[in-house]
Amino acid sequence: MQIENLSDSTLPPYLACLEEWSDDIREAGGRKAAWLEKMKNRGLKVKVAVEDGETVGMIQAVPIEQSQAEGKNLYFIHCIWVHGHKGKGVGDRRGRGIGKAMLSALEEDVRTIGAKGMAAWGLALPFWMRASWFRKQGYRKADRDGMAVLVWKPFAEDAEAPRWIRRKKTPGRIDGKVAVDAFVNGWCNVQNTAIERARRAAATFGDRAEFRLVDTSERPAFLEWGLSDALFIDGKPVRIGPPPSYEKIRRAMEKRINKLPRH
Ligand SMILES: CC(C)(COP(=O)(O)OP(=O)(O)OC[C@H]1O[C@@H](n2cnc3c(N)ncnc32)[C@H](O)[C@@H]1OP(=O)(O)O)[C@@H](O)C(=O)NCCC(=O)NCCS
Repeated sequence: MQIENLSDSTLPPYLACLEEWSDDIREAGGRKAAWLEKMKNRGLKVKVAVEDGETVGMIQAVPIEQSQAEGKNLYFIHCIWVHGHKGKGVGDRRGRGIGKAMLSALEEDVRTIGAKGMAAWGLALPFWMRASWFRKQGYRKADRDGMAVLVWKPFAEDAEAPRWIRRKKTPGRIDGKVAVDAFVNGWCNVQNTAIERARRAAATFGDRAEFRLVDTSERPAFLEWGLSDALFIDGKPVRIGPPPSYEKIRRAMEKRINKLPRH
């Protein structure tokens, strides 16, 4: 197994989050590719794990100034993923040291460019990206917002702990219509899929629904709202990780539309 930087051959599996077999990921569209183009010039680091020519793991991090947290001279891991779906794609490759190898290669890389530490996030729950995994790798808790735990590992004595940037505003309603507000950064295909489903569903209601999209990969937009990836229907948050089905999202909109005064 080798840990590599992104190349022409590993780009397609990376853009599909190693799930080129997945219809859900196809639905995410080209948002991650557009995000990658932008972030390449903003310090993005990607490592992939390759075994016998197959891409089996990925990790991506950005300077913390480009992330959902605030801090100084740190990098922030958005996502680490070792393919774990049995019987699909490259199968289950977890628990064999791949995650650990990708993390240390990334740490080494950002140390050499002068970062004072690494931050990451995980859930305080036993699924998806678990905070407990990073703890086992020597990370400690810096902050917590709901179930999202911000962890970090300083490389220098004078490194300062990061903090989450919290939600600052909630989108408002619109007279005579259902407001569908989507916030999307682009780094995560799961969230890109949910937002794409919401966009398609809102379009089926014509002028009864208004879809408003905020591209939170632009820092001022993110800082204005304190929201990175989120969906609201008439100001009410809809959970998007894992992404709800298209039908579920459309039904939530329809319910609100049925409550609008008829014209
Ligand atoms: C977390 C993850 C990256 C770890 O990669 P991995 O290759 O399976 O892990 P490794 O084999 O390198 O494990 C390293 C260590 O972590 C431990 N470990 C594995 N899973 C763990 C868990 N869930 N909690 C705590 N420790 C765990 C291993 O026992 C091992 O311990 P050691 O250091 O004492 O040897 C991988 O399991 C994964 O991708 N999980 C899903 C994450 C996810 O949902 N990402 C978002 C995708 S959108």
